[in-house]
Amino acid sequence: MTRLDGKRALITGAARGIGRAFAQRYVDEGAQVIIADIDLSRAQATASEIGPDASAIEMDVSDQASIEAAVTQALSILGGIDILVNNAAVFTADPIVDITRKDYSQIFDINVAGTLFTMQAVARVMIEQKQGGKIINMASQAGRRGEALVAVYCATKAAVISLTQSAGLNLIEHGINVNAIAPGVVDGEHWEGVDAQFARLEGKAQGEKKREVDAGVPAGRMATPEDLTGMAVFLASSESDYIVAQCYNVDGGQWMS
Ligand SMILES: NC(=O)c1ccc[n+]([C@@H]2O[C@H](COP(=O)([O-])OP(=O)(O)OC[C@H]3O[C@@H](n4cnc5c(N)ncnc54)[C@H](O)[C@@H]3O)[C@@H](O)[C@H]2O)c1
Repeated sequence: MTRLDGKRALITGAARGIGRAFAQRYVDEGAQVIIADIDLSRAQATASEIGPDASAIEMDVSDQASIEAAVTQALSILGGIDILVNNAAVFTADPIVDITRKDYSQIFDINVAGTLFTMQAVARVMIEQKQGGKIINMASQAGRRGEALVAVYCATKAAVISLTQSAGLNLIEHGINVNAIAPGVVDGEHWEGVDAQFARLEGKAQGEKKREVDAGVPAGRMATPEDLTGMAVFLASSESDYIVAQCYNVDGGQWMS
């Protein structure tokens, strides 16, 4: 018996990185998974690598019509949704004096509105199903405190933590557990992009920022996406039924709360 036998999961932004690792692990634990991503061809490649229990759909979490279409499509493939992981997000770095309204709006639309309105659409389904559910939002240590060059992204992740608390308190009466995971620094394509942005802003050589953060983690290294999958399975399983509105640090000891 695996820990997510028969469960049906929708994971946003799962074509690569952390979402992909969650999709693979959920399937290994007995679930069927929808890999929802703005990059449909990458999502399809990922789903076919994971196998027949994974399906790909196109979804732009910043677009309300796309959220609704994706939830409808997920329902027609799976017949219901028991687990939602709000994982899709984008990163940006700029000094305060250079932040544009366009960037601010775009990042908040994806990271915050995307999380809220996907949570809303799936919560409606879960309430109708009357079997409870599990919602996991991807926060970040960036949501625990500001960073000089990362104001907007940090603010979006603080908002994700706050939304998790409010939604957790609001939805538990329906047996829906809403919780969050706050990773620290997780190696992969996302961090290649972060490194490139710091190279531009701080005049560092390519790879230098990544070496610095890697050396600064108390656990001695950056995370791999697989380091986060234990918490993702726990929060998706019945073992977390009494856990409500929490945000767990899975960051190798970087932040304590
Ligand atoms: N990598 C890290 O160091 C780190 C640290 C803390 C938190 N996180 C968070 O974990 C989550 C996953 O991070 P990752 O490292 O795997 O990122 P990633 O950039 O590798 O993957 C993000 C995925 O989201 C998809 N996406 C982007 N915009 C989208 C949209 N509008 N609609 C749907 N899909 C969209 C991308 O195509 C991509 O597949 C994010 O919420 C991120 O903020 C990451």
